[in-house]
Amino acid sequence: MATIIGCVTTSHVPAIGRAIEKGLQDEPYWKPFFDGFEPVHRWLATASPDVVVMFYNDHGLNFFLDKLPTFAIGAAPKYRSADEGWNIPQVRPFTGDPDLSWHIINSVVADEYDVTTCQEMVVDHAVCNPMALLWPGGDPWPVSIVPVEINTVQFPLPSAARCYGLGQAVGRAIASFPQDARVLIMGTGGLSHQLDGERAGFINKEFDEQFMASLASDDPAWATQYSTVELVEKAGSQGVELLMWLAARAALGAGAREVARSYHIPISNTAAGMMLLEPA
Ligand SMILES: [Fe+2]
Repeated sequence: MATIIGCVTTSHVPAIGRAIEKGLQDEPYWKPFFDGFEPVHRWLATASPDVVVMFYNDHGLNFFLDKLPTFAIGAAPKYRSADEGWNIPQVRPFTGDPDLSWHIINSVVADEYDVTTCQEMVVDHAVCNPMALLWPGGDPWPVSIVPVEINTVQFPLPSAARCYGLGQAVGRAIASFPQDARVLIMGTGGLSHQLDGERAGFINKEFDEQFMASLASDDPAWATQYSTVELVEKAGSQGVELLMWLAARAALGAGAREVARSYHIPISNTAAGMMLLEPA
C-alpha cells in the first residue's frame, strides 16, 4: 500500500533556478533562503520517498490563456523541463508514475473532481526549482513525480475550499493505491507577492505567518474562509499561489506535525517560505 510520509511546501520563483546555476547559494542575498532547506535534506535522507505528488501552478507553458483547465493531472511516463520565458536553465527530465497518476485520476473523478488528464506534459520552474531545492545536484532524480496543476493564472480561480477538497481527494486516492510507495506531497508557490500593477512589490508578512501557522494547527483549512479575491488582497495577485500549499496540506491528512519551517524576505520581490510537515 502507498503511504504518505510528509509534505513540503515551498516558494518556486524563477530566480531560484538562476541562483542554483550560478552557485550563489552562499551569497548573503541567497544564503538565508537556501539554508532553510538543510533540515529538509536531513529529513529526506531517512524518509526516502519513492514518488512526489506535486501541486503546482503552470505559468503559461503547458497551458495558455486559450485553453486553461482549472485542475489538471499529469499521467505521462516522462516530464520534460521547459522554459516559459524567463530563460532559466533547464533540468534533467522527470520520470512519471502513470500507474499512480491514473489511480489518482480515477479516484478524484469518482470523488466529483473532474480533472483534465495530460498524457503529455512539460513542466516549468514551479516543478523544477522545488525539485532542485530538495535534491540539489542529484542525477538522476531519486523520485518519480505526479504533477497536479491548479489554475492561478486566469480568473475564475478555484476557491480555496475547492482546492482544499481536491487535496483531500488526492490524499484519499494515494491512501488507496495498492502498490507499495512512499509518497511525498509537495505544494509550490507564493508566499505573498505581487509582480505588477499598483501594488507591485506588495508583501504581507503578517498574513503569511498566520497562514503558515494555520497549516500546522488544528484548523489547517483556516484559509478557506477567504474568497480568491480576498486571498489576492491579502497575499498579492501572484501570492494567491498559496492555494498549492493549501491543497498539499489537505492531501497530507487530518493531523500534521511541523518538522521545519523557514521564511525569508525578499527573494526576487517575493516572501519565500518553506514548511515540512509529517502526518500526525
Ligand atoms: Fe509562480
